[in-house]
Formats: sequence, C-alpha cells, structure tokens
Amino acid sequence: MDAGWQCAVCGTSVPIATPFPWRCPRATADDPDHVLHLVSAEVDPHEPLTAPIDEVNPLHRYASRTAWWSFARANGLTDVDCAELVEQVAGDVRVTPFARSGQLSDQLGCEIWVKDETTNLAGSHKARHLVGILLHLLAAERLGLLDERRPLAIASCGNAAVAAATLAHRVGWPLDVYVPTWMDDAFGRRLDELGARVHRCERRGDDPPGDPAMLRFRDASASGSIPFTVQGPENAACLDTGRTIGWEIAEQAAAAGVRLARAFAQVGGGAFASCLGAGLGTDVRLDTVQAAGCAPLAAAWERAAVLDQPGRYWRQVMRPWPEPHSIADGILDDETYDWLAVMHAMVESGGEPIVAAEADIVRAHELATAAGYAASPTGSAGLAGVLTIADRLRPADVIVVVMTGVART
Ligand SMILES: Cc1ncc(COP(=O)(O)O)c(C=O)c1O
Ligand SMILES: [Zn+2]
Repeated sequence: MDAGWQCAVCGTSVPIATPFPWRCPRATADDPDHVLHLVSAEVDPHEPLTAPIDEVNPLHRYASRTAWWSFARANGLTDVDCAELVEQVAGDVRVTPFARSGQLSDQLGCEIWVKDETTNLAGSHKARHLVGILLHLLAAERLGLLDERRPLAIASCGNAAVAAATLAHRVGWPLDVYVPTWMDDAFGRRLDELGARVHRCERRGDDPPGDPAMLRFRDASASGSIPFTVQGPENAACLDTGRTIGWEIAEQAAAAGVRLARAFAQVGGGAFASCLGAGLGTDVRLDTVQAAGCAPLAAAWERAAVLDQPGRYWRQVMRPWPEPHSIADGILDDETYDWLAVMHAMVESGGEPIVAAEADIVRAHELATAAGYAASPTGSAGLAGVLTIADRLRPADVIVVVMTGVART
C-alpha cells in the first residue's frame, strides 16, 4: 500500500490523501526540476497467489497497492466505489500474456520470456500509466473535490497519445493533444475519431530550444489543463498504475514456476522502465536499453556515478541528447525525464544502462517479428539490449523482455 509521495530532489513529502499530487509543491517555472516518487509500504512481489492470475483485471487485482485507490479510500470512497470507477474507464482490461519464446530462446542462447503488451488497451503499455491519473481524477470528482472538468493535455504523436485519447474518450473528458507539424495525417485522423483536439505545433520565433509540442503542452498545463502524460516530472501519478506491469510479470513467473534473473527495458522518457523495476522488485536485475543514436541515460549514469545526491544537480547530470535518431522512434526523447527513478531501480537491482547499436535495434525487430510479436522497433528495443550483451549471458538465466507498441502499418 502506498504511504505517500516524496520529492526525489528536495525531499518534500505529500500525503497520499492529497488531491492532484502531480508535481512537487516546491517546483516552479524557474526551478522545474523536481519529481514526486511514491513511498510505499513494502509490497512483496512474490506474495502467494490468492486466485489464478490469468483472465483478471489488474486494476481490480492490485487496487489496494495503488496510490489512486489509497487516495480515494483515505478521503472516504469505499472499495465498491473504487471498483465502479475501474469498470467505468477500464473494465475490459486484462492481464496480458507472459510466456517463454522458444524461438527467441534458441536464437539467443538463453531463456527469453516475453510480456506481450501489443495486446493491451490501445496497443501498448502506455494506458497502464495514464489510467491511474484518470482514476485519481474520477475519484476526486466523485468526492466533490473537482468543480469542473478542465481539459487533459498531452504532448505525443505516438502510443501515449492513442492511449490518452482512448481513455479520455471512454469517460468523455476533453483532451488536447500537442503534436509536431510532421505528424502523420492518418494518425491525426485516428485521434480525431477518438474525439481528441489535435494541435499541430510550429516553432515560434520567441520559443526557447526544445520540442514546440512540449512547449505548448507546458503552456497548457501552466494555464490550468491537467497534465495527462507519461512523464513523472509533469505528472507523478503516471508512476502509480504503471507498476502493474511488473506486478503481473512477478505473479505470472511464479505461477509458471520460473525464477526471473533479469529484465531488459527500452527507455525513452523512463517511466516505463522505472515502473517495471518498481513492480518487479529488486531481486530482478533491471538493465535499460537505449539506441546509440539517443542515449542520454547512459551519459547521465556516468556523470551521476561520482555524485552523492545527483538529483540536486539535475541539469548538469541529465543533458539533452543532440540530434536523436534511430528506427526506434518512440524512444527518441532527448532527455530521460524519469532518470532518477530509473537509476534508483538499476542501482537497487544491480543493473546498468546498455547502449544498443542501431544494427541490433534493427535485428531485434526482425527477430521479434519473426517470432510472432506485432511490436514496433521501439517496442522490441529491449531485446536489442539482450543482443548487445549476448556473450555475457548465462544460458540458464531467465530474461524478461516486453514487446509493446503494436507496429503501425
Ligand atoms: C512502444 C514503446 N515502448 C517503450 C517506450 C518507452 O517508454 P518511456 O518513454 O516511459 O521510457 C515507449 C514510449 O513512447 C513506447 O512507445
Ligand atoms: Zn521537490
């Protein structure tokens, strides 16, 4: 159960009962580099199963471990109220498949187990992160803590935007999606169909450096829109239900009688890897994977290694990667926004960042596709990390990769 939030930079605590715990109360426009992390009463990822794991809705199953639920219960909603909110927004969500891939295991010479998120709501794991924000909002609304439905806002032209639009549409909550000018028209039509308001963001003369879509998103948040995003520093609540992926894998592995040794997670903004690590627990070594054409986390890891409290030196440690490029275009974030949480998960589990050559990113996608997974090159990039260090793996090691982000045709 979640005990509360604490800023990983300045240490400020925010009680779990606080509505809208998106950002550290000390974050300002001039000093934005703060991020709230969950302080949890320990959850044992290997706790005995109470019911078979397959065919259940993880948002019901793990409700009592999540922060939105603790918030709702602390303010007086009942278990039944909470279950109704889950049904309203994500009643059809189910545990996604987790199985050994015989083909990938043979090709890589170790035990490869795959969590297949291409079958998840909106085709990727992204909804896992966003649904917790929406559940918090719906709980606040039911508690009378929200007088109007201010619009949700996200900057994305990928899986996160589709997940955001799908969830917002289900409850009729207005959503603004900020996208780059080059966004694909077909993708824009899909967002339109889901009722999202799409804003193509041109660079303006007086813009500071950085992605114009991100700048417009930040303007919208500053003027009252709700950050509906998968970046912890913009909305810490995305780091809550995102952990369900790790909790599911831990239970599914236990049910299959396998002991997981390592997980390889592709990293863009870093929320995915940090939630996977937090959900799996420190017994499973978490290695993170970025493409050689965009590897700000590995660079920051080197800089952080010599510092006592790297969070206090945010801008010196996490520097934007110049000219990101890779076929894995969903992980081209020039900064790893959730670097503090990802580094924490790696340090605690004995993992490290891996930088995969572009040839390995391409090869991993070929292998994943041939093995029957519908993932995009971004979504199979964790496997590229396995290829990169294949000669250092032991044949008996049980390795987890997550295939996510269904390939768009
Ligand atoms: C398919 C897929 N996998 C992995 C990631 C990485 O997630 P994160 O940005 O949280 O690191 C993304 C992010 O866009 C994605 O779309
Ligand atoms: Zn802070």
